[in-house]
Amino acid sequence: MKPSNSISRRSAIGGLGGALFSGGWLEAQQDPFRDHSRVPGMDELTTVQDFEGVAFAKMPREFFMYMAHGGEGEFTLRRNREAFDWVELVPKGVVDVSTVQTATEVLGTPMAFPIMTSPTAFHIQLHREAEAATYQGSMAASNTPYIISHNHSIALEKITPAANSPLWMQLYPQRNLDTTKAWIDAAGVAGVKTVVMTIDQQATFYERAIHQRHLVAQPVFRREGAAAPAAPAPAPAPAPGPRTYRVPDGRLWYNWQYAEQVKSMLKVPMVAKGVLTAEDAKLCLEHGFDAIYVSNHGGRSVDYGPSSLEVLPEIVDAVQGRVPVLLDSGVRSGSDILKALALGAKAVCIGRGCRWGLASYGPAGVQRVLEILQGELVMAMAQTGRPTLASIDRTLVKTNFR
Ligand SMILES: Cc1cc2nc3c(=O)[nH]c(=O)nc-3n(C[C@H](O)[C@H](O)[C@H](O)COP(=O)(O)O)c2cc1C
Repeated sequence: MKPSNSISRRSAIGGLGGALFSGGWLEAQQDPFRDHSRVPGMDELTTVQDFEGVAFAKMPREFFMYMAHGGEGEFTLRRNREAFDWVELVPKGVVDVSTVQTATEVLGTPMAFPIMTSPTAFHIQLHREAEAATYQGSMAASNTPYIISHNHSIALEKITPAANSPLWMQLYPQRNLDTTKAWIDAAGVAGVKTVVMTIDQQATFYERAIHQRHLVAQPVFRREGAAAPAAPAPAPAPAPGPRTYRVPDGRLWYNWQYAEQVKSMLKVPMVAKGVLTAEDAKLCLEHGFDAIYVSNHGGRSVDYGPSSLEVLPEIVDAVQGRVPVLLDSGVRSGSDILKALALGAKAVCIGRGCRWGLASYGPAGVQRVLEILQGELVMAMAQTGRPTLASIDRTLVKTNFR
């Protein structure tokens, strides 16, 4: 007699068909943009930038574009990279590479290298384990502190079950103070050591993302003689309120009073992320922030704004050593990091670089990206004759910002 739980031939074939039709396998077969050229093994990549090409080959194009784009015409996105070219390194003898020391500390968080992982949203677009994979990769790279984005894609307890790490979290201001309070309480339970509040008025229109949406909406392959597809539905009329001005919900409303309210609820230090002028840096200190994070959101904030590197010196001068200054936006190599340190940053954060690593090879990719940067920084310090972080100062660079 046939056991009751056995699967019949018919249901097995049906199941296989269902799996093929509903799964990503068939979808991938139909994606005309997929690059079928050989994807290199991770050990074949030598620079952080190399990971971008692998991420492009492996990712759905829409997700790649979401990661790549800057605001509007992307001038600031390009400027973030160019600014590093406008800074020369001035070597002072050489030192034995084995003597180079890179350990530091920011707001009580010890770091083997002055490098952190920037907060970026929706890691589920990059890897099935999402932020848990980024956390794992960051920790594997000498416990690199990872700033978890407010827009993380999996539950906090799944990202860091042990909560014994140097955990930092980023907060997007929440108009409702009860919502803010609930967020702060959850961060406290997770053991967050520092809160990074993003104060750049990030509300930019992403032209590249819009073009991409139109591009993929087009049927790419149409059989000869097939009927033309129906015209796309007209765009809905903009809803009243900020969206009329292309401002996403929850942006372009916050103020210094909100910062003070958050500060009064926090038991841990609070960092202002997105500062681009000396004046704003001073105001941040007046309103209770404990550190300044110079950033233009990787070129996603105001287009035609300055690169982070260019404004770093004036901000460092303005805060006069009272609080640590962090920097991100455009950092891709160890010599980039050295330049930022020379201009006064206490540490730098890595946004897209870690995302490329995650999309390319999962946690191991994040780890490798960070380790490449760590190695390059040590080499750059040795080559320029600066064996310690304390020996890195402005005499190490000549700036030619245009
Ligand atoms: C895809 C993407 C998502 C981001 N999401 C956030 C976010 O959720 N919160 C935030 O404060 N910054 C976010 N950022 C900005 C990063 O924290 C960081 O400032 C930027 O990536 C640094 O520039 P880089 O990518 O050139 O290293 C995001 C950036 C990218 C590229």
